[in-house]
Amino acid sequence: MNSKKIRQSFIKFFENKKHHKVASAPVLPYDDKSLLFTNAGMNQFKSIFLDLEKPKYIRVVNSQKCIRVSGKHNDLEEVGRDGFHHTFFEMLGNWSFGDYYKKEAIQWAWELFTEVWKLDKSRLWVTVFKDDDEAYNLWEKETDIDKSRIIKCGKKDNFWEMAETGPCGPCSEIHYYVGDDLENQNAKHVNNSSDYWELWNLVFIQNNRLKDGTLEDLPNKHVDTGAGLERICSVLQGKNSNYETDLFSETISDLEKISKTKYIDNEVTYNVICDHIRMLSFAIADGVLPSNEGRGYVVRRVLRRASKFVMNLDFKRNQYYINWSNQLFPQCLTLILN
Ligand code: SER
Repeated sequence: MNSKKIRQSFIKFFENKKHHKVASAPVLPYDDKSLLFTNAGMNQFKSIFLDLEKPKYIRVVNSQKCIRVSGKHNDLEEVGRDGFHHTFFEMLGNWSFGDYYKKEAIQWAWELFTEVWKLDKSRLWVTVFKDDDEAYNLWEKETDIDKSRIIKCGKKDNFWEMAETGPCGPCSEIHYYVGDDLENQNAKHVNNSSDYWELWNLVFIQNNRLKDGTLEDLPNKHVDTGAGLERICSVLQGKNSNYETDLFSETISDLEKISKTKYIDNEVTYNVICDHIRMLSFAIADGVLPSNEGRGYVVRRVLRRASKFVMNLDFKRNQYYINWSNQLFPQCLTLILN
């Protein structure tokens, strides 16, 4: 299945469960000073969670453009070191605003993964927050996951917060073993090894973190889930790295043509450049231009970082022409290469 079909099948699955499809918010959060960039699908729904706004729909599904290069969620240093972290990625998500809660969120995530996408159950692991017996019991009773594959973890991994303040809550993550030896899986390696990829995070939003660090209960309980499209594509397309999926293949082959170098000889360099091109394209398209401060400075740093990696390729720059359908990519590539 190509990435477009995978995105569509996620949306369709939840539309069939009475979710309303909404558009991605821009990567530039216009009215939230706690964030430099949109870092999760739930950002645009913050005021609904805080009960400052009534939801138009109580069940929503979408694919959100996210940038994680600043603040509480920053993956910049991981990019290139492995094949599954990005500065820019798409997060598939389903939401319940005071409607269904843990039971349906868990049942549906398992149904989509194991019945629709037919992911191998002998590779799937689930984590729950250590105090969340309800989620633990639901995984055990409402799905056919092997009990030994449900793990309790602490706050660092299983209590999700978008920023220093704001809506938050315990979460349950689904991880996938990507290694070669099925017999060699170990609960201790989940969250601690690059052979286990977090594919989907189900957050049970029930608290609000205040400026003084305390937690208050929200008036209603909500569901906020996030599944990384790039990782799902990698797993469903049987690849070892997100960069081997169709989401990156065109950019990689254009970079090969322009630079007259080969991906296989320069994997890390290519990965960093391709990741950064996407981040720059979407940031600039949504109105964040490189500058000396704030968001613009982050964009400038990423641009510089990409240019530095281009130098690794050691090729003669400037005279080239690329006929890409999406004009943003060549524009950014031009910025990086010149
Ligand atoms: N907000 C959660 C996350 O970003 C789930 O969508 O992981």
